[in-house]
Amino acid sequence: MTYAAITGWGACMPPAVLTNADLSTFLDTNDEWIRTRTGMRERRVSHVSGMELSVVASARALACAGLDAGDLELIVYGSCSNEEAVPNSASGVQAALGATRAAAMDVNTACTSFLYGLTTATSMIRTGIVKNAVVIGVELISKYMDWSDRGVAVLFGDGAAAVVLQASDTESGVIGSVLGCDALARKTLRVRGIGVGYSGRDITIGDTKWDFDGPAIFKRAVHAMSEASLRVMKEQGITAEQVDLVVPHQANLRIIESVAKYAGLPMDKVMLTVERYGNMSAATVPVALVEALETGRVKPGATILMPGFGGGLTWAATLVKWGDRVTPLGTSDRSLPPCTQSALEMINAIRAAQDPHGRSAAGLSTLVAGAFDG
Ligand code: COA
Repeated sequence: MTYAAITGWGACMPPAVLTNADLSTFLDTNDEWIRTRTGMRERRVSHVSGMELSVVASARALACAGLDAGDLELIVYGSCSNEEAVPNSASGVQAALGATRAAAMDVNTACTSFLYGLTTATSMIRTGIVKNAVVIGVELISKYMDWSDRGVAVLFGDGAAAVVLQASDTESGVIGSVLGCDALARKTLRVRGIGVGYSGRDITIGDTKWDFDGPAIFKRAVHAMSEASLRVMKEQGITAEQVDLVVPHQANLRIIESVAKYAGLPMDKVMLTVERYGNMSAATVPVALVEALETGRVKPGATILMPGFGGGLTWAATLVKWGDRVTPLGTSDRSLPPCTQSALEMINAIRAAQDPHGRSAAGLSTLVAGAFDG
């Protein structure tokens, strides 16, 4: 039997920090509301493109695995905030890494894109289609945010992380995965303006306006993540006591606490990043996984549960059995160019390019263009 072991991992967090106090300089909000309702204190704002974050994260993951980019066979780019639809973003990463033999595909299931991508790449390795893969979870939400809407603008942040999967004879990597979609609730989370569907109606290309029913998403997220967690554990014959670490999607601390309670998982087994990074959509789970490894929370042979949900409303729960190695084989010298602006300065520049309901197409292209030409 072939497995798809996770042999490399790397994150790339943009350095600029946007605090709750920064948000309250232009929104009718405050630190106390954000902290008590979401558990968030700060989030990151990227000065480079999502592809650039991904290239650094992937290079770090490849070095960690000791795998040359030239030997890479598949790149899966999990995101819903791509700079372009055609060509896809995975191809930009392939070019920048020099991974000329790699197939390149994007996966968009919103916040679950990394988990869906991880399952896809694992299946391709286990069926012998490829021998290895990089799976990326990345999001550049700041450019698509409606910064006039306090109901969503306080919740999200930018970030990226990647893992390397390699074929192995030893049982490790993804051992169980359940995926689904609560499509009857698809309109509870909709970013109008990503895609062409709204052109000529209430939104022009380049604008965004968020439909976001927070309380409805909250309830459905708790239900979907809890049920998916219980199902994947049952299918694999794993009890809650046998789970060593939970690395959940981090949209709200209260959602995570409710899922843990419902699924019988104590909070001291849960890896949390929501306070420092907010909701990074597809990047949330892999960034938390990388931080769990870097802080010694992943032990050799550990059983890790990774539940998530996102727009669609897609949901997933993935069980991973870790291998023997929890330290990197090598490091990469790839890094981001210096950031010369504060997070608040970058957000104010985006806000200045937005009309009252979103941003103008010219404004968006000015903000995104030139950041990456891979
Ligand atoms: N600052 C201050 N007040 C705010 C606010 C903000 N940023 N956003 C909303 N409010 C106000 C509301 O207007 C409302 O005021 P009212 O009572 O006078 O009408 C009040 O706070 C309560 O709003 P409500 O939406 O009921 O709060 P909540 O406890 O449900 O928390 C969320 C809101 C969004 C934090 C919560 O529902 C949530 O996390 N949902 C999940 C959404 C999500 O993460 N989706 C991503 C999918 S991956």
